[in-house]
Amino acid sequence: MIKVGIIGVGTVGASVANILEENCDLITARAGKEIKVVKGVVSNLSKKRDVNIPLSSDVNDVLDDPEIDIVVELMGGVEKPYSVVKTALANKKAVVTANKALLAYHRYDLQEIAGDIPIGYEASVAGGIPIINALKVGLSANQITDIKGIMNGTCNYMLTKMMNEGVDYAEILQEAQDLGYAEADPTFDVGGFDAAHKLLILASIAYGIDAKPEDILIEGIENINQDDISFAKEFGYAIKLLAIAKKIDTDISLRVHPVLIKTEKMIAKIDGVMNGVSVIGDKVGETLYYGPGAGGDATASAVISDIIEIVRAGQSSPMLGFKKPFNSENLKLASKESINSEYYLRMQVDDKPGVLAKIAMILGDYDISIDTFLQRPAAQNSVATLLCATHNCLEKNIQNAIKTIEDLDIIKTNVTMIRIEG
Ligand code: HSE
Repeated sequence: MIKVGIIGVGTVGASVANILEENCDLITARAGKEIKVVKGVVSNLSKKRDVNIPLSSDVNDVLDDPEIDIVVELMGGVEKPYSVVKTALANKKAVVTANKALLAYHRYDLQEIAGDIPIGYEASVAGGIPIINALKVGLSANQITDIKGIMNGTCNYMLTKMMNEGVDYAEILQEAQDLGYAEADPTFDVGGFDAAHKLLILASIAYGIDAKPEDILIEGIENINQDDISFAKEFGYAIKLLAIAKKIDTDISLRVHPVLIKTEKMIAKIDGVMNGVSVIGDKVGETLYYGPGAGGDATASAVISDIIEIVRAGQSSPMLGFKKPFNSENLKLASKESINSEYYLRMQVDDKPGVLAKIAMILGDYDISIDTFLQRPAAQNSVATLLCATHNCLEKNIQNAIKTIEDLDIIKTNVTMIRIEG
């Protein structure tokens, strides 16, 4: 029998224990051995939990127990779980974690420390979707040219509701929190950080690239309003928070930001709390993965897949999918300024003669060509909302144009910019 200890018995931890019990015969047959959770660690022992396992409040009851073969880390946070996982590895225990923030910062250290001891992390990206296994195993013959992921259910739920029901941002954020979709600190969701953590994990498997959240462009959905939604609807776009990895020659561009994306694209059709990831391989072409990105049973499904794989194989494949360092192409992280895109801009301006001309002139000066221009009539105080989409241009140019426009005295608020994804 394989003995498992779970550190952090919240919704996911309880689901792991319960599914291992409920599907015991099937899982035993698939793994070749019975798998049993023998201990769970929680911070508050008096809280009632829906599980049949002995609980303790001391992590050492799991970490130091010589009988336990696999430690499942479901604590959340970064440095505390890092120390717990290192101790588990030092004690020669295999580890399974769902902790994307831990991996965003420490995946390469952990790979090094683990050596031959398996670490599974399928649940860390897109919950129940087996995207780690797809990249690490299923697509391992391919050069990965593009990854586009909707990997934060909270943002996708909010944007879908804003689009379909005209609900305001603040109201829908509260609803997402009440439904339990958002992280404890929802800034991680709406600010794009949660999706960025997941993107960095995928980028390591796809490219062997070691980047930290601070190294990449991360923008959230906080500034999106109903003006943007109505522009999107008028011109056939959806608005999505996309995590994007693109390989152009030896440059790897990694970024998370909202996009306007044509509604006919498959990824634009992923709505509500669901997650979806499109991966393009040079040989296979485009593949698309869809499913629940969060939730107790869906996330536990991914955690248990790692446990079964560890039990089956004794030693799973290399943690980040590379047996040897991959240097042949000298892949490097592209700079944020090197993005080339079409852009959508929203601004509030004085509604008086010459304003439009000034703005068009500035865009022209930065070599930016306008594709579409809309003016919403001034509701009051002679302030009008201008919405415009550009043709393809350099990120550096649009950023400089925005700065110049924001310096004009006819501008009433900061310019909101959303990239248009082709
Ligand atoms: N807060 C995350 C989301 C949970 O909304 O997708 C899963 O990582």
